[in-house]
Amino acid sequence: MPLPFTLLIDPLPADSDADSDNTVHESSVQSRSGSVPEQDSAFERTFHEIESSAPALRVAELSTQRGDGIFETLSVVDGHPQEVEAHISRLRNSAAICDLPVPNAAQWRAAIAYAVKRLPQQGELALKFVLSRGVEHGPAPTAWLHATVAPDYRSVRENGVRVVTLDRGYPRGVAERAPWLLMGAKTLSYAINMAAIREAKRRGAEDALFLTTDGYVMEGPTSSVIVRLDGRYITPAPSGAILHGTTQQSIFEHLQNRGERAEYRDLTVDELRRADAAWLVSSVRLAVAVTALDGEAFPADHAVAREWNAFLLGRTA
Ligand SMILES: Cc1ncc(COP(=O)(O)O)c(C=O)c1O
Repeated sequence: MPLPFTLLIDPLPADSDADSDNTVHESSVQSRSGSVPEQDSAFERTFHEIESSAPALRVAELSTQRGDGIFETLSVVDGHPQEVEAHISRLRNSAAICDLPVPNAAQWRAAIAYAVKRLPQQGELALKFVLSRGVEHGPAPTAWLHATVAPDYRSVRENGVRVVTLDRGYPRGVAERAPWLLMGAKTLSYAINMAAIREAKRRGAEDALFLTTDGYVMEGPTSSVIVRLDGRYITPAPSGAILHGTTQQSIFEHLQNRGERAEYRDLTVDELRRADAAWLVSSVRLAVAVTALDGEAFPADHAVAREWNAFLLGRTA
């Protein structure tokens, strides 16, 4: 199947079980002429493969009109989709924060499996899946999945990134005080995140790290941050104001398995400045060392980035 690969999905309610849902189940039996339907195949009736360049969304779609929707991007390495459960679970959490219908985990699992079976089994791919509030005044949410070849990140993984700290404009604790800001949800409204990367470039860097107005480290515009300080690996607690990164969770499990100390806690910008090393980590770019902070050289540990990336690329789930 040539890339990009695009699948439109009719999102099912969270409690709809394909095995007990007659509509889905019977149709699947007919299309498979006598074969015993598996749960995955039962969902297939809700998937519609389309040409990636074909028109697919209505003009009144709220994802495009208001950025009103949520998404996830996972990596597929040599045919292995990475951290599927963690991504689906974060999608469900984002849906809860945004008052969107809770995604049907089994259907999303099946959609990812359906796509992966049809994708190239070699190389690194980015698989994005989206749930939007749908068409204005429309009856149902809209959902789709889109897979592309991942950018070639080998050089940045090897050489790291220069980073600037940027004020996110909110104090610590904002998520509890103002939940309508949807801080912990991975919403489609990434215009601010993209603007932060442009600002970083204007300041001679490649990436950014958001800070609260009271000086706590948050996350990058498209990544989590891990810092090594006093022999411990630290990441800011996912208090609701930042995303709980699936890559960071994977790396923490890896570190703990190797007997290293890895912890969640509030981290001030002063602590960041005196850290031994720091890395930005995310699903598709993976781990990159921070080589400069706000125009000053920063102690980069590329060897650790290399070791983490070998581990991340070797995962089979
Ligand atoms: C704002 C933000 N924080 C953190 C992350 C890292 O999350 P993950 O490791 O699950 O890709 C991302 C990923 O895109 C992100 O956009």
